[in-house]
Amino acid sequence: MGNTDSALAAATIQIEAARAEKAKRPTIAGFFDEATFTISYVVHDPATNEAAIIDSVLDYESASGRTSHGSADRIVEYVTLNNLKVTWLIETHAHADHISAAPYLQEKLGGKLAIGKEIIRVQDVFGKLFNAGTDFERDGSQFDHLFADGETFKVGTLDGIALHVPGHTPADMAFIIGDAAFVGDTIFMPDFGTARADFPGGDARQLFQSIRRLLSLPEATRLFLCHDYKAPGRDDYAWETTVGQQRRENVHVKDGVTEDEFVKMRTTRDATLAMPNLIMPSVQVNIRGGRLPDPEDNGVSYIKIPVNAV
Ligand SMILES: [Fe+2]
Repeated sequence: MGNTDSALAAATIQIEAARAEKAKRPTIAGFFDEATFTISYVVHDPATNEAAIIDSVLDYESASGRTSHGSADRIVEYVTLNNLKVTWLIETHAHADHISAAPYLQEKLGGKLAIGKEIIRVQDVFGKLFNAGTDFERDGSQFDHLFADGETFKVGTLDGIALHVPGHTPADMAFIIGDAAFVGDTIFMPDFGTARADFPGGDARQLFQSIRRLLSLPEATRLFLCHDYKAPGRDDYAWETTVGQQRRENVHVKDGVTEDEFVKMRTTRDATLAMPNLIMPSVQVNIRGGRLPDPEDNGVSYIKIPVNAV
């Protein structure tokens, strides 16, 4: 990043242009999955109907090991109903709390499957943890595209730019399309705070720096979150906020909170959190681009659970 953050400067120019001209702003639909508190997004260009799907969810019943497609089919229905052409299937990171439905959606709707290029580090860490054999490539080749920090892309005529925002995992990315930033697991609603930073490869100090980087975008930037858990005293789920609101109100990282204060708070809080219910299936499948491990000779895929290793 350094002193001159050219990716951030480019993102700022893009957002200001989109604030000034409606045609440069996307239409956004959020789909909330109450089982995992995840929000998936369909983001499209009203001029061309080209669309990106961000962070989709495959339903998974851990007791029986059964997958199903209720959540993904709601997205298929929306895309079909609105005549959208899916060009991107984007993951903000390798999620630890739900399995991605990207391969299922790709088969139904098309689009290129993309994630941040640091996924290779996550594949390395979890490839070792799950003792995956040499048939599990740790080079990101399960994805169609790996985004680098500052890389630009298009959704129809809309401008997009990717920012590397590590901390929750080493590979987290935020994707800014027009004036809307899809920030993955960095910041949550102002009354809830921030994402945890204690998964393998996570780092609270890095997370703080990534969040402050996002919060130096223009105040009017719309932020769309990956999760909402409701905060005590709030009755409804919410997932849209702005840079300005976060800087004024975020209970963990509003303006004035120092890096050391944040790291102390985050580390203390993370020590009290249980692992997500679906961490083992999620990580194992998501590092493979959302595909189940290869079936064994009886045709069945298996999810492994490392015992006493995490
Ligand atoms: Fe996550």
